[in-house]
Amino acid sequence: MSDSYTSLLDAVIAHLEELKADGSKFVSVGPEVLAALAAPVPRTLTTAAPAAAPLNATARTAVAPAAARVAPTPPPPSPPSPPPPAPRAPAPPAPPVSAPAPKPIFSTPAPVPPSATTAAAKVTSSPRGDVFNSPVLPPAEKLQALAELRARALACEKCPHLVATRQQVVFGVGDPEATLMFVGEAPGADEDRLGEPFVGAAGELLTKIIKAMGFSRETVYIANILKCRPDTPGQSFGNRRPTPEEMATCRPYLLTQIELVRPRVLVALGASATTGLLGLTESITRLRGNWQTFRGIPVMPTYHPSYLLHKPDNREKRKVWEDMLQVMAKLAVPISEKQRGHFL
Ligand code: URA
Repeated sequence: MSDSYTSLLDAVIAHLEELKADGSKFVSVGPEVLAALAAPVPRTLTTAAPAAAPLNATARTAVAPAAARVAPTPPPPSPPSPPPPAPRAPAPPAPPVSAPAPKPIFSTPAPVPPSATTAAAKVTSSPRGDVFNSPVLPPAEKLQALAELRARALACEKCPHLVATRQQVVFGVGDPEATLMFVGEAPGADEDRLGEPFVGAAGELLTKIIKAMGFSRETVYIANILKCRPDTPGQSFGNRRPTPEEMATCRPYLLTQIELVRPRVLVALGASATTGLLGLTESITRLRGNWQTFRGIPVMPTYHPSYLLHKPDNREKRKVWEDMLQVMAKLAVPISEKQRGHFL
């Protein structure tokens, strides 16, 4: 194989590894690409590639999900750019682990339409873009404002394709007075059915992480960028990532949730949450562990729990745990020696 072909292959493999680290379980490819992949690689190949179409927008549209699974076989030698919105696979069950807190864990804009007289309207009309300068509402007003926002989200029909397929709008859950807020990507099938974020396999793992930090689901706040489950037309299983348009449409709900709850620290779970919240498109492997700021609130990007479900060893879990140790330190919560040592 020529050097150029090998380096193209290396580039594609590196790109796919990044997508995988960002939580992607699938890439969508078109029939032409699959046909090209099935063809033998020409022995005399000197430059790039068999006649494989790039993973462009056209190729992404219609694919049989099973055939589109990322496989160790060499992908087309033209690195896809920008990364396709790969569907998320249903997460396998969390590895068995017991976790009495704080025991080892993972093992076991269009603004929201204001109603001028409400507390929610007061906070969403905050004029400064860089920080929330609206006052933090007293608990009773905050509760009322969140309830009003929830009612609006539940009645939202801005994305007709999602309205058509959703079972429930998944608004968010937790303590309106929480100091710590987790932001995920979008509801999966379990969340869509139950109306609560992070209740599937990835959610169980997130709950363990939260407990290992000394919190509980009731003492933090959990929400997603997208409140409706992304539809998967023609696909009977799996999930897909939200599109930029969907995220932009739904984002005002999350922003108002953050503005109302006003946590002291935010955790962005995975690439979509980091992009949706902060607009950062760098790989999550580079962003994780590095503090960002959203309107004056420190944000810790980390891997999505569903990514960890597919990592049997402790290396990636330790990375997430180190990110959470940073979060705990920022919140000035006590950290025991045992907590410090998880996954070492
Ligand atoms: N993944 C997410 O990002 N959010 C959920 O609510 C569930 C799974």
